[in-house]
Amino acid sequence: MNVAVVGTGYVGLVSGSCLAELGHQVTCVDVDVEKIAGLNNGVIPIYEPGLEELVKRNVGYGRLRFTTSYQEAIPDAEVVSIAVGTPSAEDGTADMKYVKAAAEEIGKNLSDYTVIATKSTVPVGTAEMITEIVKANTDCEFDVVSNPETLREGHAVYDFLHPSRVIIGSSSPRATDFMVHLFAYLDCPKVVTDPRSAELTKYAANAFLATKISFINEIAHLCEEVGASVEDVAKGIGLDPRIGKDFLHAGLGWGGSCFPKDVLALSTLAASLDYPLPIVNAAIKTNVHTRERVVSRLEKALGSCAGKKIAVLGLAFKDNTDDTRESAAVAIIRELHNRGAEVRAYDPIANVTSEHVGFDLEHSADPYSAAEGAEAVVIATEWDEFRNLDLQRLKKAMSGDILFDGRNLLSQEEAERSGFRYFRVGRKSKM
Ligand code: UGA
Repeated sequence: MNVAVVGTGYVGLVSGSCLAELGHQVTCVDVDVEKIAGLNNGVIPIYEPGLEELVKRNVGYGRLRFTTSYQEAIPDAEVVSIAVGTPSAEDGTADMKYVKAAAEEIGKNLSDYTVIATKSTVPVGTAEMITEIVKANTDCEFDVVSNPETLREGHAVYDFLHPSRVIIGSSSPRATDFMVHLFAYLDCPKVVTDPRSAELTKYAANAFLATKISFINEIAHLCEEVGASVEDVAKGIGLDPRIGKDFLHAGLGWGGSCFPKDVLALSTLAASLDYPLPIVNAAIKTNVHTRERVVSRLEKALGSCAGKKIAVLGLAFKDNTDDTRESAAVAIIRELHNRGAEVRAYDPIANVTSEHVGFDLEHSADPYSAAEGAEAVVIATEWDEFRNLDLQRLKKAMSGDILFDGRNLLSQEEAERSGFRYFRVGRKSKM
């Protein structure tokens, strides 16, 4: 099929490249001239495992191209996927300005019947809003469907090609046929529903997963108080198929470009309808508390953070990405700095600007130079590299002996054998 993907951010670029990999003829369009020029020269603007090879291979086959021109991308497309950003607006709702601009440009450039599919996470009722905008700009026949993405950063290519399900929110059998055809090669259930249910499914999925993480973090905090092990509790409950073992890793709470934004948007939407969501709101509160608790435990171990040198290992919100949006690592670094600590950080690929973190953060070249002279080291991102730290070398570089493993990557015995006072999430501290 001929497909256009609007937006070459993480969702658009991954979706476009994977649709090309499935054999479709894909044109990705973006208003960012520099990004498109880069992509046309083989420069991939984000770090995502497997993406660079996928883009190069499909550009080479002539199935994938990039342009800034809607006129070039839209008229021949049978399906146009909207994958532009929907960031949080000041009031917590999803900011729809990019979706509206895309809908207007798509409308102006339609030449024949086209299915317009929303991949971005958008509020309930967006399909109707897009329909109105497109209708005002074209005489062509078209349908708008909701087709929310369910990709995880760091695993996005794999997730697109091996999805647990594809959600198609459509009120037109003709459009549904197009979408089923588009994803025919993906061996997974296709959940066909109406657009409003599809739009809400995406928010409900992210809110449920975020709540699951907040729940296990709450249990982890209780484990720290009563002297139990959160990992054993998680294993014990996760083997019940009604609960499931995934998303039960206690740590520093949920971050990234999706959960915080989507959970807040859902909560704000419900509040505006005078139907507050107490469970979802509690999940948000626990997430904030999870980060604060790490800093408080660390401060208790250090006596005070003021004037202490602390190395933070990890900046990305999780492993296999350079994304630091809403990262727990960044929130913890800010709080340690506010409490007077001298913070230094290392991440294998992510960086933060001083504007983002709020001060001029020193970035180190490796974990051991970050730890040089430090009283405490905090592991804040679950990079594999940190599972394999040379703990004796790390300890030798430091002036103190505190190792706070915020992602539970290390073995307590080994850390203690290397001379650390070792702290982890969901285990009582030995002081
Ligand atoms: C999430 C969802 O998992 C995707 O299905 C969804 O498509 C995507 O949002 C989106 O809406 O676009 P992502 O934000 O890439 O994907 O990251 P996750 O792997 O889900 O992790 C989110 C956060 O939860 C991270 O901060 C991670 O460290 C944390 N987490 C995850 C835990 O603390 N414990 C866990 O057990 C799992």
